[in-house]
Formats: sequence, C-alpha cells, structure tokens
Amino acid sequence: MIIFNSIEQLQNHLNSIRNQKKSVGFVPTMGALHQGHISLINRAKADSDVVVCSIFVNPTQFNDLSDLDKYPRTLAADCQLLEKANCDIVFAPEVTEMYTEAELDLKKQKIEDKSWTLGKQVDFGMLETVMEGAQRPGHFNGVAQVVSKLFRIVSPDKAYFGQKDFQQLAIIRSMTKQLEMPIQIIACDIIREPNGLAMSSRNERLTKEERSLAAIISQTLYTIKQEYLSKSVGVLKQEALQNIQTVPAITMEYIEISDSDSLQAISDFKQSKSAVVCIAVKLGAVRLIDNVVLY
Ligand code: PAJ
Repeated sequence: MIIFNSIEQLQNHLNSIRNQKKSVGFVPTMGALHQGHISLINRAKADSDVVVCSIFVNPTQFNDLSDLDKYPRTLAADCQLLEKANCDIVFAPEVTEMYTEAELDLKKQKIEDKSWTLGKQVDFGMLETVMEGAQRPGHFNGVAQVVSKLFRIVSPDKAYFGQKDFQQLAIIRSMTKQLEMPIQIIACDIIREPNGLAMSSRNERLTKEERSLAAIISQTLYTIKQEYLSKSVGVLKQEALQNIQTVPAITMEYIEISDSDSLQAISDFKQSKSAVVCIAVKLGAVRLIDNVVLY
C-alpha cells in the first residue's frame, strides 16, 4: 500500500496505472475508519483493479468548529486497517494541499464558495434544503466542494459511498451528473453494530451505556418498516417520536419519511415509488443519523 500526501505525486502514480489500462475505484473518507468504511473498500476491491482511499477531514463541510476540532484523527490505525483490507493507495493530504487560503477564508466568513463548479450551473434544489441541509447550513456545499476536487484529482472509474449518509449520496449523484463527470457512483449498504446501531466515527464519542441506549434509533426505523403497510405516515412518525422519547438521554432532531429520489417528505405512501425513513438525534453531545429504505 502506498501513502501519498501530495496531489502531484498521487497523480503521477495514477497516470502510470491508467497507462496499464487498469480501472480505478475510489473511496473518499474522513478517516477514523471502522468496518462501515472497510465494507466500501471491499466492494471497491471486488470490481476495480486499483483501489484508492482518501483520508481527509474536510474543514469546509463542518458548520460547527468544535465538531471539526473534536473529529477523531487516527491516521496510523486507519492505514493499518486499510493495509489489511488490501487497499492499494491512500491519499491523505494536508488542508493546505486541498484548499487555497481564499477558499478557507470564505469558509471562515460562512460564505458558500461555489468555485468548485468551475463555472457550470449546479443546483441541488430541494435535495440540499431538507433534513441535514436544513440542520447544517453550508454542509452539502462543503461536501460537494471536496468530493468534486477529489474526483478531479483521482479521476476514478467508480466511486463508492455508504447509504448511511443517504442525502449525501443523493447530492453526490446529482453533482456528478450536473458536472458531467464520467464516474459511476456505487451505493453500499449500511454496516451496523450487533445491536443495530449504524457504525459511525462519531460512535467513538459515546459511552458504553450510550451505545447500548442508541440501539433504539435503528429499532424505531425497523418498526416503521414492519408497520408501514398498515399505518399512515403521520401515525408512524408520531409513534416513532414517542418511542424515542422513552429514552430521556436522546433528543430527536427530525424523523422524515421521504421519497427516496427527491428526498421530499411524503404524507401518503401512494405518492412515491420508493420511500426511505431518515432520522437525526442527539445523544449527549453527539449527533447521530440513520435511515432505512422502506420499499
Ligand atoms: P465519512 O463519514 O468518513 O464516510 C466515508 C464513507 O463511508 C461515506 O460514503 C459514508 O456513507 C460511508 N459510511 C460511514 N459509515 C458507514 C456505515 N456504517 N456503513 C456503510 N458505509 C458507511 O462521508 C464522509 O466521510 C465525507 O462527507 C466525505 C464523503 C468523505 C467528504 O468529505
């Protein structure tokens, strides 16, 4: 496994790989890797000749500076996990390798920098205004900014993303399409702890007791999946809220039953060909998201 910090050195290496007509699979991450991330590497290994994993805690997608500071950084352990998973290349740039001072300055001023579109008209419409977009202003602009940069640097044939971040996946599909990037976006299943808690780098900040309390989050979503044929959207959401309220340590930010493509909330299942239930909660100081596709 080769580790690069420099864009130029990575690109020189990737050029020689492409000259050998090998396909490149790409898994972007922010590190603090767990089996959820490794499942993406495994999937990429299964259908690409060479797998690149990026590890970069992207400052422009954090709307809360203390969240950025607290984000775990465990590069040595991450590289060990990636080596075991037979990842071929790690790209772990410094912030200054990825961003100009001007870009970081705009972020500090909370101005959404759109220069990543390179002059193209990119509009995420309602995809970025609901759920996570409503709770975290500027977050998806930062995600699109860094992923578009990474896509231009790596130029992969395929890129792999977890359904854990369902809305992020929709944004990235839309971005890739609007920027006309010839990259296939592959969605991968959510990997869960034995108690059903979706794996997340943020889980490291939960106490043992909180981790076991957090099981109620996915249980609530699976209950909706079991009951959606016999109950209305309104009743399901109300019962889910009541269920979450049985654990006082958890506060609900939102629960939304939405069309899987447009991500618009639905009030009647007849409205959509495919629906997903998405939730965001706070457990202590830690914000957790999860979702389950209903049909
Ligand atoms: P990060 O949170 O590190 O996640 C990297 C990838 O791993 C994402 O595609 C995410 O959906 C996936 N992932 C995380 N937990 C998962 C789980 N339990 N099961 C399956 N996949 C899981 O998402 C980001 O980083 C960043 O926003 C990024 C796209 C790298 C841009 O900075």
